[in-house]
Amino acid sequence: MRLALIVVLALLLAACDQNMDVQPKYSEYSRAPLFRGSVLRLPPANTVARDDLEWERAVTTKPALSAELLGRGQQRFAIFCLPCHGAGGDGDGIIVHRGMPRPTSYHVDRLVTADDQHFFDAITNGYGAMYSYAARILPQDRWAIVAYIRALQLSRRASIEDVPPDERAKLRVQP
Ligand code: HEC
Repeated sequence: MRLALIVVLALLLAACDQNMDVQPKYSEYSRAPLFRGSVLRLPPANTVARDDLEWERAVTTKPALSAELLGRGQQRFAIFCLPCHGAGGDGDGIIVHRGMPRPTSYHVDRLVTADDQHFFDAITNGYGAMYSYAARILPQDRWAIVAYIRALQLSRRASIEDVPPDERAKLRVQP
């Protein structure tokens, strides 16, 4: 009885031979009888996919500064950048303690005076040893992260005069 079961199981397993390499499918460069060309089609000349325009707009339009944007930036920063750049942006994240080259602190003059695009581009294209985050962070979120980095930088250089007068009293209250 047990032998029969083993034989049946062995036969069943032997039938599971189809893997992803041999499944029936078109591959991009094979010939497609329907089109008299390859499966991969060229878009008609002078066409622009609608999504591309939206994407382009998100890349080139910096969203207006708001508490919501900063909140989003803070959250995305904590997920994607903090492990290397550290919570304060000093370049002392946990991965750096484990051997990653230490990134320059966001608080050096060169990066305080660098424009927003420098940060956006580093996220998009990577920078030296840092790899690109283009595939993981949407353009809107890249701008949100840039806004949050600006807030981090300001937090080290702001004076009490930068705070609106009616908000100053709150800062003097001991927690
Ligand atoms: C895996 C570690 C790591 C992560 C995660 C990371 N970075 Fe970096 N980053 C680096 C390193 C290392 C450098 C310096 C690279 C070099 O100089 O070769 C760097 C450089 C930079 C620079 C350029 C600084 C300069 O000197 O001009 C910016 C801006 C930057 N990172 C922003 C970010 C942001 C924003 C995120 C999150 C979206 C992020 N990084 C995530 C490691 C990381």
